[in-house]
Amino acid sequence: MPSCFWRLPPRRPRPAARAEAPVDYLTQIKPILSARCYGCHSALRQQASLRVDTAAFLRTGGDSGESFEPGDAAGSVLVAMLTGESGSRMPPEDDGPALRDDQIALISNWIDQGAPAPDEPIPPDPREHWSYVPPLRPPAPPVERADWVRNPIDAFLAAEHESRGLAPAPKADRDVHAWRDVDTSGGGGRGCSWTR
Ligand code: HEC
Repeated sequence: MPSCFWRLPPRRPRPAARAEAPVDYLTQIKPILSARCYGCHSALRQQASLRVDTAAFLRTGGDSGESFEPGDAAGSVLVAMLTGESGSRMPPEDDGPALRDDQIALISNWIDQGAPAPDEPIPPDPREHWSYVPPLRPPAPPVERADWVRNPIDAFLAAEHESRGLAPAPKADRDVHAWRDVDTSGGGGRGCSWTR
Protein backbone atom coordinates (compact mmCIF):
# COMPACT_ATOMS: atom_id res chain seq x y z
CA MET A 1 0.00 0.00 0.00
CA PRO A 2 1.51 3.40 -0.91
CA SER A 3 2.73 5.24 2.18
CA CYS A 4 0.72 8.39 1.39
CA PHE A 5 -2.57 6.61 1.98
CA TRP A 6 -2.82 7.61 5.61
CA ARG A 7 -2.89 11.25 4.58
CA LEU A 8 -6.21 10.99 2.82
CA PRO A 9 -8.98 12.79 4.68
CA PRO A 10 -11.68 10.63 6.22
CA ARG A 11 -14.29 9.55 3.77
CA ARG A 12 -17.18 11.96 3.72
CA PRO A 13 -20.71 11.04 2.85
CA ARG A 14 -21.43 11.98 -0.73
CA PRO A 15 -22.75 15.54 -0.46
CA ALA A 16 -26.46 15.79 -1.03
CA ALA A 17 -25.75 19.00 -2.94
CA ARG A 18 -24.77 17.05 -6.04
CA ALA A 19 -28.44 16.53 -6.63
CA GLU A 20 -29.07 20.29 -6.37
CA ALA A 21 -29.65 22.43 -9.45
CA PRO A 22 -26.37 23.65 -10.93
CA VAL A 23 -25.32 26.95 -9.38
CA ASP A 24 -24.10 29.68 -11.72
CA TYR A 25 -21.18 31.60 -10.25
CA LEU A 26 -21.63 34.82 -12.23
CA THR A 27 -25.33 35.30 -11.67
CA GLN A 28 -25.81 33.63 -8.29
CA ILE A 29 -22.57 33.77 -6.28
CA LYS A 30 -20.74 36.87 -7.44
CA PRO A 31 -23.64 39.26 -6.68
CA ILE A 32 -23.72 38.02 -3.04
CA LEU A 33 -19.98 38.49 -2.64
CA SER A 34 -20.12 41.87 -4.33
CA ALA A 35 -22.87 43.14 -2.05
CA ARG A 36 -21.53 41.76 1.23
CA CYS A 37 -17.77 41.16 0.92
CA TYR A 38 -16.14 43.47 -1.64
CA GLY A 39 -16.10 46.38 0.83
CA CYS A 40 -13.30 44.61 2.73
CA HIS A 41 -11.99 41.98 0.30
CA SER A 42 -11.47 43.37 -3.20
CA ALA A 43 -9.10 45.52 -5.23
CA LEU A 44 -9.34 48.51 -2.89
CA ARG A 45 -9.05 46.80 0.47
CA GLN A 46 -7.84 43.32 1.39
CA GLN A 47 -8.58 42.45 5.00
CA ALA A 48 -6.57 39.35 6.01
CA SER A 49 -4.88 39.67 2.55
CA LEU A 50 -8.03 38.21 1.02
CA ARG A 51 -9.73 39.23 -2.21
CA VAL A 52 -13.00 37.65 -3.24
CA ASP A 53 -13.62 39.61 -6.44
CA THR A 54 -12.71 36.67 -8.66
CA ALA A 55 -13.49 33.02 -8.02
CA ALA A 56 -9.77 32.21 -8.19
CA PHE A 57 -8.93 34.79 -5.51
CA LEU A 58 -11.81 33.53 -3.35
CA ARG A 59 -10.45 30.00 -3.49
CA THR A 60 -6.83 31.02 -2.90
CA GLY A 61 -7.87 32.67 0.36
CA GLY A 62 -5.88 35.09 2.48
CA ASP A 63 -3.49 34.87 5.44
CA SER A 64 -4.86 31.48 6.52
CA GLY A 65 -4.50 29.92 3.09
CA GLU A 66 -6.98 28.23 0.79
CA SER A 67 -10.56 29.09 1.72
CA PHE A 68 -12.09 26.01 0.10
CA GLU A 69 -11.30 22.89 -1.86
CA PRO A 70 -13.74 22.40 -4.76
CA GLY A 71 -16.14 19.59 -3.86
CA ASP A 72 -15.77 20.07 -0.10
CA ALA A 73 -18.00 22.83 1.23
CA ALA A 74 -18.41 21.16 4.62
CA GLY A 75 -14.67 21.15 5.26
CA SER A 76 -14.07 24.69 4.00
CA VAL A 77 -12.90 27.72 5.97
CA LEU A 78 -15.22 29.84 3.83
CA VAL A 79 -18.46 28.12 4.78
CA ALA A 80 -17.34 27.86 8.42
CA MET A 81 -16.88 31.61 8.42
CA LEU A 82 -20.22 32.31 6.73
CA THR A 83 -22.07 30.20 9.30
CA GLY A 84 -19.93 31.52 12.16
CA GLU A 85 -18.83 27.98 13.10
CA SER A 86 -15.20 29.05 12.86
CA GLY A 87 -15.71 31.49 15.73
CA SER A 88 -15.18 34.47 13.40
CA ARG A 89 -18.21 35.28 11.31
CA MET A 90 -18.12 36.88 7.86
CA PRO A 91 -19.29 39.51 7.23
CA PRO A 92 -18.25 40.62 10.72
CA GLU A 93 -21.07 41.25 13.20
CA ASP A 94 -20.56 45.01 13.19
CA ASP A 95 -20.99 45.02 9.42
CA GLY A 96 -24.55 43.76 9.42
CA PRO A 97 -26.38 40.45 9.53
CA ALA A 98 -24.94 37.12 8.45
CA LEU A 99 -25.71 35.89 4.95
CA ARG A 100 -29.14 34.29 4.72
CA ASP A 101 -29.31 30.49 4.96
CA ASP A 102 -30.33 30.23 1.31
CA GLN A 103 -27.31 32.32 0.29
CA ILE A 104 -24.95 30.14 2.34
CA ALA A 105 -26.61 27.06 0.82
CA LEU A 106 -26.00 28.42 -2.69
CA ILE A 107 -22.32 29.01 -1.96
CA SER A 108 -22.02 25.55 -0.38
CA ASN A 109 -23.71 23.91 -3.34
CA TRP A 110 -21.49 25.79 -5.76
CA ILE A 111 -18.37 24.56 -3.90
CA ASP A 112 -19.71 21.00 -3.76
CA GLN A 113 -20.38 21.17 -7.50
CA GLY A 114 -16.67 21.87 -8.04
CA ALA A 115 -16.90 25.70 -7.91
CA PRO A 116 -17.05 26.17 -11.69
CA ALA A 117 -16.36 29.73 -12.83
CA PRO A 118 -15.24 31.35 -16.07
CA ASP A 119 -11.88 33.12 -16.34
CA GLU A 120 -12.42 36.58 -14.97
CA PRO A 121 -10.44 39.74 -15.57
CA ILE A 122 -8.69 40.93 -12.40
CA PRO A 123 -10.38 44.18 -11.36
CA PRO A 124 -7.75 46.93 -11.18
CA ASP A 125 -7.20 49.03 -8.07
CA PRO A 126 -9.57 51.98 -8.51
CA ARG A 127 -6.89 54.26 -7.04
CA GLU A 128 -4.90 53.65 -10.22
CA HIS A 129 -7.69 55.05 -12.39
CA TRP A 130 -6.41 58.07 -14.33
CA SER A 131 -8.91 60.35 -12.60
CA TYR A 132 -7.16 59.76 -9.25
CA VAL A 133 -3.65 60.21 -10.59
CA PRO A 134 -2.47 63.79 -9.93
CA PRO A 135 -1.80 65.53 -13.24
CA LEU A 136 1.84 66.35 -13.87
CA ARG A 137 2.88 69.19 -16.16
CA PRO A 138 5.14 67.59 -18.77
CA PRO A 139 8.06 69.69 -20.04
CA ALA A 140 7.28 71.47 -23.33
CA PRO A 141 9.14 69.75 -26.18
CA PRO A 142 11.90 71.67 -27.95
CA VAL A 143 10.79 72.78 -31.45
CA GLU A 144 12.48 74.32 -34.47
CA ARG A 145 9.72 76.86 -35.13
CA ALA A 146 10.07 78.48 -31.70
CA ASP A 147 8.78 81.87 -32.99
CA TRP A 148 5.39 80.23 -33.73
CA VAL A 149 5.02 79.11 -30.11
CA ARG A 150 3.05 81.58 -28.00
CA ASN A 151 2.25 79.30 -25.07
CA PRO A 152 3.44 75.85 -23.89
CA ILE A 153 0.53 74.03 -25.57
CA ASP A 154 1.65 75.46 -28.94
CA ALA A 155 4.99 73.70 -28.41
CA PHE A 156 3.21 70.30 -28.38
CA LEU A 157 1.33 71.21 -31.57
CA ALA A 158 4.51 72.48 -33.24
CA ALA A 159 6.40 69.31 -32.27
CA GLU A 160 3.63 67.22 -33.82
CA HIS A 161 3.60 69.38 -36.98
CA GLU A 162 7.35 68.98 -37.29
CA SER A 163 7.26 65.22 -36.74
CA ARG A 164 4.74 65.00 -39.63
CA GLY A 165 6.52 67.47 -41.89
CA LEU A 166 3.65 69.98 -41.73
CA ALA A 167 3.99 73.75 -41.71
CA PRO A 168 1.34 75.95 -40.09
CA ALA A 169 -0.71 78.14 -42.44
CA PRO A 170 0.34 81.79 -42.41
CA LYS A 171 -1.58 84.14 -40.16
CA ALA A 172 -4.83 85.27 -41.78
CA ASP A 173 -5.22 89.03 -42.44
CA ARG A 174 -7.82 91.04 -40.52
CA ASP A 175 -10.62 90.72 -43.13
CA VAL A 176 -10.30 86.98 -43.49
CA HIS A 177 -10.09 86.61 -39.74
CA ALA A 178 -13.24 88.69 -39.21
CA TRP A 179 -15.09 86.72 -41.91
CA ARG A 180 -14.19 83.40 -40.30
CA ASP A 181 -15.44 84.72 -36.97
CA VAL A 182 -18.88 85.34 -38.48
CA ASP A 183 -18.80 82.15 -40.48
CA THR A 184 -18.19 79.84 -37.52
CA SER A 185 -20.85 81.44 -35.35
CA GLY A 186 -23.66 79.75 -37.28
CA GLY A 187 -24.94 83.19 -38.31
CA GLY A 188 -25.62 86.13 -36.10
CA GLY A 189 -23.66 86.24 -32.87
CA ARG A 190 -19.93 86.26 -32.27
CA GLY A 191 -18.44 82.87 -32.92
CA CYS A 192 -15.04 81.53 -32.14
CA SER A 193 -12.36 81.27 -34.70
CA TRP A 194 -9.59 78.74 -35.12
CA THR A 195 -7.33 81.22 -36.85
CA ARG A 196 -4.42 82.57 -34.94
C1 HEC B 1 -16.24 45.01 7.29
C2 HEC B 1 -15.17 44.26 6.69
C3 HEC B 1 -15.40 42.84 6.22
C4 HEC B 1 -16.40 42.37 5.43
C5 HEC B 1 -17.59 43.11 4.84
C6 HEC B 1 -16.09 40.98 5.19
N1 HEC B 1 -14.92 40.64 5.81
FE1 HEC B 1 -13.98 38.85 5.73
N2 HEC B 1 -12.53 39.53 6.97
C7 HEC B 1 -12.50 40.78 7.54
C8 HEC B 1 -11.41 40.84 8.50
C9 HEC B 1 -11.04 42.05 9.36
C10 HEC B 1 -10.79 39.59 8.48
C11 HEC B 1 -9.60 39.12 9.34
C12 HEC B 1 -9.99 38.90 10.75
C13 HEC B 1 -10.89 37.75 10.96
O1 HEC B 1 -10.60 36.66 10.44
O2 HEC B 1 -11.90 37.94 11.67
C14 HEC B 1 -11.52 38.78 7.51
C15 HEC B 1 -11.21 37.47 7.18
C16 HEC B 1 -11.91 36.71 6.26
C17 HEC B 1 -11.54 35.37 5.87
C18 HEC B 1 -10.33 34.59 6.37
C19 HEC B 1 -9.19 34.95 5.45
C20 HEC B 1 -7.89 34.34 5.86
O3 HEC B 1 -7.28 33.70 4.99
O4 HEC B 1 -7.49 34.52 7.01
C21 HEC B 1 -12.45 34.94 4.98
C22 HEC B 1 -12.49 33.58 4.26
C23 HEC B 1 -13.39 36.01 4.79
N3 HEC B 1 -13.02 37.09 5.59
C24 HEC B 1 -14.46 35.95 3.94
C25 HEC B 1 -15.40 36.97 3.83
C26 HEC B 1 -16.57 36.86 3.01
C27 HEC B 1 -16.91 35.66 2.13
C28 HEC B 1 -17.26 38.01 3.16
C29 HEC B 1 -18.62 38.34 2.60
C30 HEC B 1 -19.67 37.40 2.83
C31 HEC B 1 -16.51 38.86 4.07
N4 HEC B 1 -15.38 38.18 4.47
C32 HEC B 1 -16.87 40.13 4.43
C33 HEC B 1 -13.32 41.84 7.25
C34 HEC B 1 -14.46 41.75 6.46
